Amino acid sequence: MNPFSYGTIVKGPYFYDRHEECKRIVSTLSGGNNLVLFAPRRFGKTSLVFRAIEELEKLGYTCIYFDFMPVYSRESFIVSYSKAIFAKQKNLQSAVKRIASLIKGIRPKLVFDQVGNPEFTMDFTDDKVADKTLEDIIDLPEKLASENKPYIIVFDEFQEINNLNGENFEKLLRSKIQQQEHVNYLFLGSRTHLLNDMFNNKGRAFYNAAMLMQIESLPEKETIEYLKSRFSLSGMKIDQPVSLYLIEQAGNIPYYIQLLSAEVWQYMVSSQQVVTLEVVGFCAEKIVDLKNDYYFELYGRQSAYQKKLLISLVISGENVFSADYTRRFRLSATSTTQKALLGLVESSVIEKVNGNYFISDPFFKRFLSRYA
Ligand SMILES: Nc1ncnc2c1ncn2[C@@H]1O[C@H](COP(=O)(O)OP(=O)(O)OP(=O)(O)O)[C@@H](O)[C@H]1O
Ligand SMILES: [Mg+2]
Repeated sequence: MNPFSYGTIVKGPYFYDRHEECKRIVSTLSGGNNLVLFAPRRFGKTSLVFRAIEELEKLGYTCIYFDFMPVYSRESFIVSYSKAIFAKQKNLQSAVKRIASLIKGIRPKLVFDQVGNPEFTMDFTDDKVADKTLEDIIDLPEKLASENKPYIIVFDEFQEINNLNGENFEKLLRSKIQQQEHVNYLFLGSRTHLLNDMFNNKGRAFYNAAMLMQIESLPEKETIEYLKSRFSLSGMKIDQPVSLYLIEQAGNIPYYIQLLSAEVWQYMVSSQQVVTLEVVGFCAEKIVDLKNDYYFELYGRQSAYQKKLLISLVISGENVFSADYTRRFRLSATSTTQKALLGLVESSVIEKVNGNYFISDPFFKRFLSRYA
């Protein structure tokens, strides 16, 4: 079996490092504060949070992980969120009764599937879901929690709340959670610029609602150790310079390190024992070839000026508004560049970190470098 894994939450032996980050999450939340995690796409936020949840549960917290991505309406939020809360309850029958008594406007039910597994479902008593129902569901964890049974709620892809009756939901959630005494919240999401605006913009409901934490790439030293040990499980060797080359080709982004390593392993599994620079380079090219159609379409979707900017970003993403950069890449006025970059950030093609811009997908960058 391939010793590398990507595209899902990684756990157990697939997961490495993040000890300090995990400790900080645990201590912030158990210290009674809310926290928001920032990191570019595919840096390992969700996996890290699952790791922290394991630790928090050992400390006696009831942790509820809730992903906002599939939520498409207030109703769907109410259904999915109550299911997630219900799933953590021990006595199912009495939990249904409690939920029924605590939330106005719903009729919760326990049904059993063919093999006898219980499932929580509900009807709404009215066609239009009242604000009160939403308020009650947001307060449900607080009602179920207590001094010696505290709750931690993890809201992943939290920026998606913007699509759910926007400000109103956001304000309501904020006002409710700040009154709760036995529940703390951890927020995260993959669309950093939206999340950033929610928590750092004075005009927004969640301004100052949580402590901020930034997650960086995984440290090189640990990644090299990890690569060595994972490849060695199949009797393959990778030395330090080749590991460093692999990390660089993957943009030092955890997801792409696993993707490229998995490809290298697959390529080598039946024949070779030593990972070489050539093999890593060949596999990186192969990934670009496999994704060529998608990259081609993605590139084609950008305006002419955005294409020009993308090609410039392949070479450098630093000081993009400087006179030097403008001259070097023959760019237009700063305002035009700003607007084009904003569009690229909004569609997650590029990311902005510490004032610098980079292409989110290192293999798209490699694809673009064919044009540069
Ligand atoms: N600590 C880690 N150890 C090993 N691999 C990791 C680690 N963190 C992340 N990865 C790799 O990165 C991939 C993406 O991780 P995860 O889904 O946790 O990131 P994310 O930041 O939540 O991504 P997104 O921005 O898409 O929500 C994983 O499938 C795995 O391949
Ligand atoms: Mg995630």
